Amino acid sequence: MPDTKTLLQQLSLEQKCALLSGAATFQTRGLPQFGIPAIWLSDGPHGLRKQAGPADHLGQNPSEPATCFPTASAVASSWNEALGEEIGRALGEEAAAQQVAVVLGPGLNTKRSPLCGRNFEYFSEDPYLSGKMAAAYIRGIQANGVAACPKHFAANNQELRRMATDSILDERTLRELYLTNFEIAVTEGKPQTIMTSYNMVNGVYANENAHLLKEILRDDWGFDGAVITDWGGSNDHALGVKNGSTLEMPAPGLDSVRELVKAVQDGRISEVDINARLEELLALVESTTAALENAPRTIDWDAHHALARKAAAESMVLLKNSGGILPLDPAAKVAVIGDFAKTPRYQGAGSSLVNAPRVDSFAEVFERSGLHSAGYAQGFDRGGKPDPALQAEAVTLAGQADVVLLFLGLDEVKESEGLDRADMKLAQNQIDLLLAVHRANPHVVVVLSCGSAVETPWASHCQGLVWAGLSGQAGAGAVLDVLTGKVNPGGKLAETWPLHCEDNPSYKNFGKDGRNVEYREGLYVGYRYYQTAEVPVAYPFGYGLSYTNFAYSDLHLTPRSVTLTLANTGAFDGDEVVEVYIAKPDAKVFRPAQELKGFARVHLKAGETCTVTIPLDDKAYRYWNETADAWATEGGSYTVRVGASSADIRLEGTVTVPPAGGADPYAGLALPHYHSGQVQDVPDAEFAALLGRPIPNPKISIDRNMTLGEIGHGRSPLGWLIHVIHKHLLDKSLQNGTPDLNLLFNYNMPLRAIAKMTGGMVSMGMVDGLVMELKGFWIIGIVRVIVELIRNMTRNAAMEKRLQAGGKENRA
Ligand code: BGC
Repeated sequence: MPDTKTLLQQLSLEQKCALLSGAATFQTRGLPQFGIPAIWLSDGPHGLRKQAGPADHLGQNPSEPATCFPTASAVASSWNEALGEEIGRALGEEAAAQQVAVVLGPGLNTKRSPLCGRNFEYFSEDPYLSGKMAAAYIRGIQANGVAACPKHFAANNQELRRMATDSILDERTLRELYLTNFEIAVTEGKPQTIMTSYNMVNGVYANENAHLLKEILRDDWGFDGAVITDWGGSNDHALGVKNGSTLEMPAPGLDSVRELVKAVQDGRISEVDINARLEELLALVESTTAALENAPRTIDWDAHHALARKAAAESMVLLKNSGGILPLDPAAKVAVIGDFAKTPRYQGAGSSLVNAPRVDSFAEVFERSGLHSAGYAQGFDRGGKPDPALQAEAVTLAGQADVVLLFLGLDEVKESEGLDRADMKLAQNQIDLLLAVHRANPHVVVVLSCGSAVETPWASHCQGLVWAGLSGQAGAGAVLDVLTGKVNPGGKLAETWPLHCEDNPSYKNFGKDGRNVEYREGLYVGYRYYQTAEVPVAYPFGYGLSYTNFAYSDLHLTPRSVTLTLANTGAFDGDEVVEVYIAKPDAKVFRPAQELKGFARVHLKAGETCTVTIPLDDKAYRYWNETADAWATEGGSYTVRVGASSADIRLEGTVTVPPAGGADPYAGLALPHYHSGQVQDVPDAEFAALLGRPIPNPKISIDRNMTLGEIGHGRSPLGWLIHVIHKHLLDKSLQNGTPDLNLLFNYNMPLRAIAKMTGGMVSMGMVDGLVMELKGFWIIGIVRVIVELIRNMTRNAAMEKRLQAGGKENRA
């Protein structure tokens, strides 16, 4: 490829602008006459989804075979950065072999609510753990010369109306909970690209948010790569380019090019902005193209399958093991029950859907294991319908075995992009089955397949409980390894499992009507809330059992490191995750009871002892001081707590740290709920005081950003009709238990995205015609749509010719 300086001189303004948006669903625009190739981008976070044929961003059309690794929520439970890097390397290898330049992952949004439909794609409720795991994936992916694209930046924590919500949160919460993960990923992983999120953050779309993209991402963190929009997530492309967004995806069509050219001609943005973005894009195209040229085109499927199995086994969390029912007694006669044992639930739905070349099922690996089998029974209907015959058959089988392995979980439609969960329950027919099986045989081990936390009021009816997560194509073998003790489970929860969904601090402000998503709980997300407000939970953050025991002793602290002695005092070799939390019981500036600031996964043979040292970095004591608009440290003594989980602290000591930064930013403000951590019912006035401004009006207006699901609020009979039909079809698909992702996506999609997602067929002028129609100007609205349609077609054809031509002589 010619050097960028030369290209910037040769290209016309129109050609430059054209390069800043995609040409196809997963490809950038190339201009071969200048030696600029198009590059491929593909999902995603736990396996590649290259769609060589018809492409879509919801995982509906087929994609090339690729290894399906466990999803991020599982791998986060390994607390093993080296493993994350290894998975990343394998993802990068598969991308390179398939000539994909950019891997659209990892996903690292902080889990604000257990109900977010995409939690399976994200790592943790803790930004430190998420950031560290994401950085590891990024390093691995990029070791192959392809680019990683961490997503979705930022404060994107629910699926409902995901393209049109406004995340309202105070700057401290934004920085500490929703950006620290990205900060670690960017500064330690050094991704070549990053994907902006669909939503607004404090009133401005993430993709055109100068605060996020310029001040924080580029200036504070030094990111100099390409910022990529989420698919259809660009609102005002020119403003995006001005504020640091490089590439608009998927294929918004040439209208978007005209929008940019016009913005330069009108002086809204300057050609310097265009050039800056183009330099970022060309650097990406050049480096990835060079790497792909030399990349091996073959994939070692067996090696990647083995890695997927190792990753799944390392990530599984043993939640309960009464009477040491696990590992299984090799002489025991074992009944395998549950549909998930035969047809595994191993990944989630949506854009992360991988076409795995092979998928192991537990029933099969079990039959080959040499263990003593009492047989298999399906036990329940996956869709949730009560089925007494299936249940009776399973109960009979349970009665004939020494131990029952019961495979329960969430079905395919419960965890999906585009759709939040309504509750955290397992289907009632599965719970009924457990109770019935338990009556027939109390020796029940439940293996749970789901990508996020569920309520477990039924846990007293099983002796063993293993959370397998969504464990990828080789998960079944990994379950076998853990159940038999071939692998000693060492995973720890990266997300709190509350007793009740309603206990969650964001519960009353999640998935509500209107534009606003109000982060009223502030800093108190996950364990930060449960522990500060002293709300009991089912399984705490960082919790997980082992077949062995670990003893912690000999703590030595400095403000920058924690050193201790760890001994494996049990009979099994095994891994322990050592977790470091920092607390400041005498804090003047309110803060959660404790926060994770370091961790290490350590392997010890039975009887072995070692010294563990965990560094404490610049994130250990800091808080965001809004008044100073900077990170600050409250001086004084801090408690350093070292434990096997957030609720099982084994050692603690204090360190003294000097103050840094400004005075108490909250002096004089009445913030009682934030001081106590009791944040479930923060009144308007207190939330406004925390924000430092009035809570924005959540009202929806009739404009380009009204969603298709909202057009019933317009003043057009045509809009009402479309709304009724759309809603009817969607409700029907939801009732049938097979939500149509397209309908869902469209329902939550703003009108302007019609122009951004139709490959140039629809222009923004046509969208404006639609808006007029919805405002009640029925005739003018329709006429405008038609006129704009003709205009768009003619102008597109002419521009396409100019783009294919030479350089500056075609200046627009
Ligand atoms: C998702 C992204 C994904 C993109 C491309 C969007 O709907 O939000 O995570 O990378 O589609 O498939």
